[in-house]
Amino acid sequence: MSDTLWRPMTATDLPAVLAVAAVVHPGYPEDEAVFAERLRLFPLGCLVLDGPVGPIGYVVAHPWRRAAPPALNRLLGALPSQAGCFYIHDLALLPQARGSGAGGIAAARLAEIAADAGLSCLALVAIDGSSGFWRRQGFREVHAPALAEKLASYDDAARYMERALRPEHETTAEGRTTP
Ligand SMILES: CC(C)(COP(=O)(O)OP(=O)(O)OC[C@H]1O[C@@H](n2cnc3c(N)ncnc32)[C@H](O)[C@@H]1OP(=O)(O)O)[C@@H](O)C(=O)NCCC(=O)NCCS
Repeated sequence: MSDTLWRPMTATDLPAVLAVAAVVHPGYPEDEAVFAERLRLFPLGCLVLDGPVGPIGYVVAHPWRRAAPPALNRLLGALPSQAGCFYIHDLALLPQARGSGAGGIAAARLAEIAADAGLSCLALVAIDGSSGFWRRQGFREVHAPALAEKLASYDDAARYMERALRPEHETTAEGRTTP
């Protein structure tokens, strides 16, 4: 699959993005305002995967603080003036779009965007059994007491993960990484 199928998201994509989210994440509903705010705050981090008749996937990411995943369905207000990581809010593909490399291409694209923005770390909360996918993309679970409360709006299987983008940035800010 060509990475040219991932393109920048625009505000007109939001209804289609919400439709994909409703199929992929029925247990984690988020308001359109949440997607619209991320798109407004950091448009470079919002991409759409086009299928034959419209979007079949999306990714939303933005600079953020490490070990501080935002609660689900909450507005951010503003981006931090000193971000420590590029936080992947969501990567979602419709079932028919999975298994052909589009997810891996998106992860690689996000790493490039983060590096271009001067960020040395990617971070996310893995849900729905996706931690294996993220491990294949170079992410590792981070365990820190402060994270437990922050993960409470997700589910018991949610895992906070990070991926360093530079060799000198191997250790975590508030926890330890697992190999
Ligand atoms: C997770 C998701 C983005 C993966 O996208 P994808 O396009 O199917 O993944 P790819 O085809 O690029 O797979 C890349 C590699 O990861 C592996 N992989 C994919 N999903 C996996 C999973 N859930 N667990 C373990 N490995 C997985 C693939 O086998 C492939 O391995 P390879 O490099 O040896 O070939 C997609 O399945 C999805 O949208 N799932 C539902 C939403 C979701 O869980 N999003 C993550 C929220 S944090």
